[in-house]
Amino acid sequence: MKKRLLRDIEVSEVGMGCMAFSHGYGKIPAEQYSIEAIQNAYDHGCTFFDTAEVYSPNLSGIGHNELIVGKALKGVRENVVIATKLMLHGFGFGNVYQTVRNHLEGSLERLQTDYADLYYLHRMSGVPVEKVAEAMGRLIDDGLIRGWGLSQVDVDVIDRAQRVTPLAAIQNIYSMVERDSETEIIPYCMEHNIGFVPFSPIASGLLSGKITAQTQFEKNDDVRNWVPQLSRKNIEGNQPIVEMLKSFAETKNATPAQISLAWMLHKYPNVVPIPGSKNKERIIENLDSANITLTGEEFAALEAELSRHKVYGHRGLGGF
Ligand SMILES: NC(=O)c1ccc[n+]([C@@H]2O[C@H](COP(=O)([O-])OP(=O)(O)OC[C@H]3O[C@@H](n4cnc5c(N)ncnc54)[C@H](OP(=O)(O)O)[C@@H]3O)[C@@H](O)[C@H]2O)c1
Repeated sequence: MKKRLLRDIEVSEVGMGCMAFSHGYGKIPAEQYSIEAIQNAYDHGCTFFDTAEVYSPNLSGIGHNELIVGKALKGVRENVVIATKLMLHGFGFGNVYQTVRNHLEGSLERLQTDYADLYYLHRMSGVPVEKVAEAMGRLIDDGLIRGWGLSQVDVDVIDRAQRVTPLAAIQNIYSMVERDSETEIIPYCMEHNIGFVPFSPIASGLLSGKITAQTQFEKNDDVRNWVPQLSRKNIEGNQPIVEMLKSFAETKNATPAQISLAWMLHKYPNVVPIPGSKNKERIIENLDSANITLTGEEFAALEAELSRHKVYGHRGLGGF
């Protein structure tokens, strides 16, 4: 697969979100299935894997997902880029470097590695971003991380952080139906050589065309029950976008999910999506979006169509 840069970290053009093997989309697969799914993705050319310390069933406990990712990738560690994230709690902050380092050391142990390629602050807490940036700079000097990033942040926070320790990547929500990052954040990232890593790039499945207003989401640990964009009313409201995507995909002999990813790859050179799936076949389908080339005309037609349609609902700011 072709490669892209997150600052100086080289990754496959499409990465893999590993969260659903532990949290967020209902029943989790057996561990061996998840390990094989990650290894299949690697065999298919994926070299960028996204996890977080909090990805565990029902977000109770720490590290379920990192343990799986560690087991799956230990044999190919040096060939892959592993991104993980820490959560800082509360407003009290003493030695931020030591606190962040403690979190990192826990992640490294679970990931069976002695460095993380990319270490994100998962959400802003009461700790000033400058302090986190300073700590991340020290961890880079220590050789414990290769680069750092922020998740779900605005451009002011990014700028304050960037002035202390240059960022490798920003991981924010971004898809055909969540385009707020286009106004300031992605342009800022392009100007400052920062990678932009869209999470929920298929809008939690909406843009695959497989979700209808009748779809029953799973009862346990399934974020789709509270994602506002996936309420029955909003799924119905967003159908014109999904239908447009379906007919466009047919003309390209591709799937709607693939087109939604190919669109953002075409649009920005610094974007590397991390679609998530707990299904081996769909993981490969999503990775194959990197093989779809849109002509300038096709891209312009998609953009024109997207600007014609009102988007109903957002994913919401909860969830990780
Ligand atoms: N930084 C953050 O705060 C944050 C927040 C959320 C997620 N993330 C990261 O981003 C990754 C991706 O986000 P996400 O999983 O929320 O959203 P997503 O990739 O937009 O969508 C995942 C959902 O779409 C379905 N899906 C995926 N590919 C499909 C396909 N080709 N055809 C049909 N259905 C498909 C999946 O179902 P199946 O599993 O049944 O295929 C799953 O329900 C996560 O794994 C995680 O690593 C980060």
